[in-house]
Amino acid sequence: MTTAPNGPRPGSGGPYDRLFDRPFDRGGTGSGKWARAGGGAGGVIPMGLADMDLPGPPAVARALARRARHRAYGYTVCDPAGRELVARWYRDRHGVEVDPSWVLLLPFGPRTAVRLLLEAVRPAGEVLFPTPEWGGFAQLCRAAGLPFREVPLVRDAAGHRLPVAAFAGCRDGAVLLSSPHNPSGRVWSEAEVSALAEVVARAGAVLVSDEVHGDLTHPGHRHPVAVAVAGRDRERTVTLNSVGKTFNASGIPSCFALVPDAALRERLVGVMAGYGLWEGGLLEQVVQQAALREGGPWLDALLAHLAAARDRLTGLLGGAVRSVPEASYLLWVDAAALGLPPDGARAALLERCGLEASDGADFGPGGRGSLRLNYALPTPVLATVLERLRRAEPRVSPV
Ligand SMILES: Cc1ncc(COP(=O)(O)O)c(C=O)c1O
Repeated sequence: MTTAPNGPRPGSGGPYDRLFDRPFDRGGTGSGKWARAGGGAGGVIPMGLADMDLPGPPAVARALARRARHRAYGYTVCDPAGRELVARWYRDRHGVEVDPSWVLLLPFGPRTAVRLLLEAVRPAGEVLFPTPEWGGFAQLCRAAGLPFREVPLVRDAAGHRLPVAAFAGCRDGAVLLSSPHNPSGRVWSEAEVSALAEVVARAGAVLVSDEVHGDLTHPGHRHPVAVAVAGRDRERTVTLNSVGKTFNASGIPSCFALVPDAALRERLVGVMAGYGLWEGGLLEQVVQQAALREGGPWLDALLAHLAAARDRLTGLLGGAVRSVPEASYLLWVDAAALGLPPDGARAALLERCGLEASDGADFGPGGRGSLRLNYALPTPVLATVLERLRRAEPRVSPV
């Protein structure tokens, strides 16, 4: 593995420099995030669901339009070029070598992928994952009838930490990790992830590292790709990623998995076949290939925008921020520090500030008393958010 940084490179921005400073109207697109916030009625700003109120890469729009013009929308086969593109993406952006044969190109979202991976892993023991953690892991384990245990994250002055040794109880089971962490935006260190991979392998379990926020790692931080840092334990490790999350295209279900273990790959493909799913969906491939081929400069500009938004929000909210984000666009805040009741904080923030957040209780037992705010917003909307928070009672004091 090389040590190339995986944040934006010098000269980022360019043609996209002011793209995220302009208002971006999602009206008429059936946005789930806006629907949750009453369509923005009464000036409510949606900061809940994890997609971006920012325009995606023009290359993806162009590729979709080009493909749509050809009126054959029949069954598709998997284009092996997609695997090479994934490998090249990891080499160029993360400085890690991915064998194209590890890559599975999946025509469904990461949530479905985790569920099907669990089916393919067939854990005999418990499924462990940290708490707080995006609600999907618990939901998926419940739906699959798998016993699971939520392991509380530890916190120090720098934010959340992975209590690696606490995962040793995953004997013959599985560990699910969101890396970088949703909801806090924490980028786990290479040492944490490689130690976790070792603990998991020693317990005869499998680590599924959900890295859908990994390509959104902020400048100055480095995201450890689990299958790369797991070393000799990589056969018991899976990395899951999605251009849907990175390039704001989650409405077109797609993701990809890096699965070094050939037998597990084969089992996953078999499980998929049982649901009538196969690699290489029509829209999935169009979006994935366009994003990975041409989306880099757009992503660099996006990351600069997100890092600036993060600084403005954390500067205002100070100690209320539980862990300063190092990736993505999610801010995990202590409701009480904002003067909000720990139970019912979401409703109180909505009423006082017209900001619609995600309730911490949706993130497992470790989430009570917190709110998650999605700050992937155009600059003028972010300014309104800051203004409303500043005016909220009790007063938020800048640090
Ligand atoms: C870490 C993580 N994994 C998986 C998902 C699920 O993505 P989807 O619902 O698009 O499958 C999300 C969505 O926010 C997520 O943040």
